[in-house]
Amino acid sequence: MTGSIKNKKIILSGGAGFIGHHLLNRLATNNTVFMIDNLKRGLLRRFNENENINFHQIDITDLDQMVSLKQEADIFIHLAAINGTENFYQRPIEVMDVGVLGVINVFKYCAEMSIPKVVVASSAEVYQKPKTIPTPEDIELVVPSHLNPRYSYGLSKIFTEFYSLHYGLQKDLSVSIFRPHNVYGEDMGYKHVIPEFMLPFLKAKSENKKTVLIKTKGPINSSRAFCYISDIVDGIEAISDQSSSGVYNIGNPTSINIKDILLMLSDISGLELQIDDSKNEHLGSVTERVPDIAKIASLGYSPKINFLEGLTKTYNWYQKNYHLYEEEKINTYL
Ligand SMILES: NC(=O)c1ccc[n+]([C@@H]2O[C@H](COP(=O)([O-])OP(=O)(O)OC[C@H]3O[C@@H](n4cnc5c(N)ncnc54)[C@H](O)[C@@H]3O)[C@@H](O)[C@H]2O)c1
Repeated sequence: MTGSIKNKKIILSGGAGFIGHHLLNRLATNNTVFMIDNLKRGLLRRFNENENINFHQIDITDLDQMVSLKQEADIFIHLAAINGTENFYQRPIEVMDVGVLGVINVFKYCAEMSIPKVVVASSAEVYQKPKTIPTPEDIELVVPSHLNPRYSYGLSKIFTEFYSLHYGLQKDLSVSIFRPHNVYGEDMGYKHVIPEFMLPFLKAKSENKKTVLIKTKGPINSSRAFCYISDIVDGIEAISDQSSSGVYNIGNPTSINIKDILLMLSDISGLELQIDDSKNEHLGSVTERVPDIAKIASLGYSPKINFLEGLTKTYNWYQKNYHLYEEEKINTYL
């Protein structure tokens, strides 16, 4: 499946972000990629020197900037968003501006440039607390409360899906939507649960301590189906290669308990672990979410990297690049 797309012109929004730069580096081996990003949560250092990568600093919420690109393409892959749980609570308006205006502008652009295939990132957050686990694509999408800013993100993704599907139907475009489930891997920023847990371990190591204290923000008994980045990139490639429209979960259905992640990190780092789980700052956080991946499996997809292997690779990257955190933590979006 790796490298299944070849010799295409691809526009990729959000390509300086976590998933975006891994996808960009993969796609650019066999295709020409026009990457757009406003660098709010993206980093230029992330993508390889490659003559197949053309970077344009564009804000997708600004239609004039988008239209100025004037680039024809075979596929538009739309990833740009304000991701990061802390941002959902602290910046709900911006999350919705980028989510809603972004997708509208992407489709206006694709219609204007006659781009026949559009691939759009949604999220497992559209399910919130799903009634069925593992969760198939066709269950209801919900916003549990209009008062909790956390749902700004899930709401913007529900809008994104609805708008994309109906735009595709009305204008006869092929639209593939994917719902990634808890992606992790090298260079994923600092505001996801995995790096948030790793950073105190790395700090303790850098100070030659023997013990690390972890203060959890959400329920420690919750579990997630984490999916390693290369497996997500495989899935995005697979659906981008389809001429028909569809909605797909992408993820790894193996469920991992939050406490077990901390115990694994304790093993990998060699540090003794103490846990303080007396606070729960993440109101509205769900306790379990697992994707049913039968639909994307029918395209030949299966995740390959098990959690301990992926976590070790990710830990090693953060350990080697711990100095970057000191430089990059001033970007409060990351
Ligand atoms: N990482 C995950 O676990 C996960 C899970 C579910 C869904 N997703 C979705 O997948 C996509 C990629 O996620 P990610 O983790 O790589 O996010 P990310 O935040 O690392 O990357 C998003 C990129 O979009 C860019 N961006 C933000 N606003 C922009 C704007 N107005 N104009 C242009 N660029 C803008 C950022 O600078 C960043 O480079 C997103 O749509 C996200 O919602 C990710």
